Amino acid sequence: MNDFPKNFLWGGAVAAHQIEGGWNVDGKGLSIGDVMTNGGNGIARQITKGVEDQYYYPNHEAIDFYHRYREDILLLKELGLKVFRTSIHWSRIFPLGDEQEPNEQGLQFYDDLFDALLENGIEPVITLSHFEMPYHLAETYGGFKDKRVIEFFAHYAETVMHRYKDKVTYWMTFNEINNQADGQHDLHTWTNSGILFEDNETESEKEAIIFQASINELIASAKAVQLGKIINPDFQIGCMMAYVPIYPYSSKPEDQMAALKVMQRRFFYSDIHVRGTVPAYAKKRWLQKGINIDLSAEEEKILQQGTVDFIGFSYYMSGTTTTIETVDGQPISDFEHSKMLTNPYVASSDWGWQIDPVGLRYTLNIVYERYGLPLFIVENGFGAYDDVHEEIIQDNYRIDYLAAHIIQMKLAIVEDGVDVLGYTTWGIIDIVSFGSGEMDKRYGMIYVDKDNQGHGTLKRKKKASFHWYQKVIATNGEDI
Ligand code: BG6
Repeated sequence: MNDFPKNFLWGGAVAAHQIEGGWNVDGKGLSIGDVMTNGGNGIARQITKGVEDQYYYPNHEAIDFYHRYREDILLLKELGLKVFRTSIHWSRIFPLGDEQEPNEQGLQFYDDLFDALLENGIEPVITLSHFEMPYHLAETYGGFKDKRVIEFFAHYAETVMHRYKDKVTYWMTFNEINNQADGQHDLHTWTNSGILFEDNETESEKEAIIFQASINELIASAKAVQLGKIINPDFQIGCMMAYVPIYPYSSKPEDQMAALKVMQRRFFYSDIHVRGTVPAYAKKRWLQKGINIDLSAEEEKILQQGTVDFIGFSYYMSGTTTTIETVDGQPISDFEHSKMLTNPYVASSDWGWQIDPVGLRYTLNIVYERYGLPLFIVENGFGAYDDVHEEIIQDNYRIDYLAAHIIQMKLAIVEDGVDVLGYTTWGIIDIVSFGSGEMDKRYGMIYVDKDNQGHGTLKRKKKASFHWYQKVIATNGEDI
């Protein structure tokens, strides 16, 4: 098989709120991640009104990257990373979110961090908002429900893109913006758009709210793209999607339609990011549901003019849907009400995520055919319980997962001709889980001594996967 492209961007990925800690130092404001308590495997995190004494908030200290990044970067260098994906904590730069003047100490932190990466031969790849809106914007404005937040984001984006114009080339606007597509899940609507639903809101009202907030967020993203291109025409600015391919369970035509419809809900976001227009299926949905979207002609123009250069995406698992089953004893009447079920042909992780490496090759093909833009896999990883008592953590399950996915990515590039810019494994160093707030859902190749209750020395230690990935990168994917 031919090689990976010579300049392939092998890397690792994290997000500011899951790694930095330092939640209230050097002028940083409260962020929406700072009010999320710890949950557990199958136990939801709570979102509190401000910070309350009786709760533990794992992101407050995280792994203290804020104070330890220099030693961590030395490990990343030893690993051989070409790129390191992280995010800028919006509330370090604008503590409340609606100020005019940025917080210089916050800006200086990222100057120092990016310099340290570059000095060690690692290029930063930056997400502007990875679930990190300032809490004040969610509390006072209702997040992206309010169009004023578009301007606050654009001002923030312009400020940091200007400041780091010579240090960062690859940018992404909103992490996994399409997670809120289902509109039901508190954690997703909160982290994507800063929205918490009221108890008395109906499903239809929630759908309308999420569509409007999503449109506002997409306008904010398009503005950031436009501003970025003025600041530095060489910038490569992408979107960031969570791609979870949904398979039809059977060859029943309604199952095919069901899978297509579930996929459209999530493609809605990249369709607008890439094509700059609202897809016909969404307009029809709005009409049928009586949803009035506030989108002016001027805003439509912004969407058209702020399309992205590449598509960054996360890939962890696939899903399966059917109309064959019954729901509450009743047959499913149509594909609009299909039911998700466990795919009997793939295994699951301890958190029930369906492990499907071939699904990555499938996704790369589907997305590349749909848009024809370069793709960047900016998250892929295996959350697992590690045996932390071992001298060297033998995380062969993690190596198996990653190797199987890298092989499928290679097939997509070499056999199918998909243009892939790079691959950054998720949680290259152990971090706080987004979904559960646990430390013990570990993704890292570098172990961090800290447990779910926040105890531990924070010492770092290489796992077996560290040495394996080092070899993958050194051979440019020849030795997997
Ligand atoms: C993605 C997010 O949803 O998946 C990350 O972009 C997150 O922030 C990752 O950490 C894995 O999810 P979790 O819940 O296992 O941390």
